[in-house]
Amino acid sequence: MDKKRRAGEKAVEFVQPGMIVGLGTGSTAYWAVRKLGELVKGGLHIRGITTSAQTEDLALQLGIPLISLGECEYVDLTIDGADEIDSHLHLIKGGGGALFREKMVASASKRLIIVADDTKLVRELGAFRLPVEIVPFGWEITARHVERFGCLAVRREEGTNPFVTDNGNWIVDCDFGAIPDPASLHRSLKAITGVVETGLFVDMADLVVVATDTDVQILTK
Ligand code: A5P
Repeated sequence: MDKKRRAGEKAVEFVQPGMIVGLGTGSTAYWAVRKLGELVKGGLHIRGITTSAQTEDLALQLGIPLISLGECEYVDLTIDGADEIDSHLHLIKGGGGALFREKMVASASKRLIIVADDTKLVRELGAFRLPVEIVPFGWEITARHVERFGCLAVRREEGTNPFVTDNGNWIVDCDFGAIPDPASLHRSLKAITGVVETGLFVDMADLVVVATDTDVQILTK
């Protein structure tokens, strides 16, 4: 079975009846959401909170009852993917463009479980270009400010148009090379007017479910 599928399905074992579950975005979280859909059909009572319009469509198709983030005090558990994971379990996310909602839901979660295949494990973050969500107004100025921190910031495109996030914003993909201090870089970028959120998830993941060719491992800090 596909590595992403094995990781996604394994993480669902942490879900307990009655939980409010954050439903991540991407091709690995997809398998977790699918599995949850199966369990819901079989009688498991949970409520889901989605991290993107794409996952909302999937969850609705699967019959997973949904609530909005504003309706709950906290999320019991969120299962989401990542683009890079370092040994401290700091992450780069946002390859699918859903980083803002993913971070909102993760921040409200008691527990964040990341699902991935072993190609996502890195010694140091930064080979994957860091997605940064920015407002379209005056975006060139915001991108130039971002670049002062040592990267080339390229606006993400979809066909001939800018890629638009679920929040109506744009994304610049930033090639920083190695990121030795993700917390500090995140703080600096967040302080720029025009930056909505960065794809650096520092000290947020509690556990990583990672699938190799032969097994599935659980990584903790
Ligand atoms: C979505 O915006 C991302 O944060 C995804 O969680 C991340 O890109 C991982 O996606 P895959 O599981 O498809 O690699």
